[in-house]
Amino acid sequence: MKQQIVDTILGAKKSIKSNRKDKGMAFAPANVALCKYWGKRDKTLNLPFTNSLSISLGSYGAHTTLSFIEAEKDSIFLNGQIMQAKPFADRLTAFLNYFRLNSKTSFQVDIRSNLPIAAGLASSAAGFASIVLALNDLYHWALNLKECSILARLGSGSACRSVQHGFMEWEKGLAQNGMDSYAKSIDNPFVDLQIGLLILNAQEKPLSSREAMEKTVGTSHFYAGWQNQVSEDLPLLKKAIASKNFTLLGEISEANALCLHALLLSSRPAILYSEKSTVAAWQKIWALRKEGLELYFTQDAGPNLKLLFQKKDKDKVQMAFQTEKLWVVDPMETKFHEYN
Ligand code: PMV
Repeated sequence: MKQQIVDTILGAKKSIKSNRKDKGMAFAPANVALCKYWGKRDKTLNLPFTNSLSISLGSYGAHTTLSFIEAEKDSIFLNGQIMQAKPFADRLTAFLNYFRLNSKTSFQVDIRSNLPIAAGLASSAAGFASIVLALNDLYHWALNLKECSILARLGSGSACRSVQHGFMEWEKGLAQNGMDSYAKSIDNPFVDLQIGLLILNAQEKPLSSREAMEKTVGTSHFYAGWQNQVSEDLPLLKKAIASKNFTLLGEISEANALCLHALLLSSRPAILYSEKSTVAAWQKIWALRKEGLELYFTQDAGPNLKLLFQKKDKDKVQMAFQTEKLWVVDPMETKFHEYN
């Protein structure tokens, strides 16, 4: 099924072998969902039950260089180190199978990420999106953003929101083949918005979002409530973006994330990504807010938080979290810096 979608999108382009370059390169930013994607109506094609909305992380993400090699297997490097026998490398190889010229084509894949891997910071989304964009460059396909978004989604759902900077809304679509399920840009930059990556634990997460989603959808009666919540939160977030209303943006994003984590707890058995330090950070943020600092958070499938605040409050936020590991990201600053 996936190959059919890939072939439909690439059409005749895939057979234009003479046009390919020696190397393809691309950067894709990570993205943070302000209204989360949780639950798949189709597990193979990564088709969601609901729409979701994200903001990209500017210069934080993955830069991929792809080239052809004469070898039986792909060579996959992450930050200069070969990735062997890692589930993520296997996923990438399986994904690349849809894009080989023939069964003898192997790829050298060099991914440079400036994010902590698998810490709930959407690093796989940036990885898959940058691979699709690098393939587009390597083969000279000249795909449009919709096509890139659909292809990236086949690698990892939320990757479809990482093919471009800024706010992206992933439309769930209705078609069985998912050709109408892709992310669209909401072109209304919020120049004052800052995102703080509060790293409380950078270890690999014990339960992948893929497995967790399946458990939630299959066991929680609250899942129907979650879908209703998303249909209320999304229009409010879009209103906040359109009117540049930071308070509304922060309130809805935080409430949506907490609703997701409540939903996770209602799975059987319960899924808990938060740690003691996570709950302590929630309480600290709520206390700071009571004191007048406009600071909100969102949280994905891991214990770390993403803080949402405005440029004018950057110093205060950095001061409040000076003993923790906090990276401040300006979504408008899009130049890739190799390492941090
Ligand atoms: O695309 P996945 O399978 O990594 O799932 C992403 C799930 C969340 O990050 C928790 C939510 C989201 O919308 O990004």
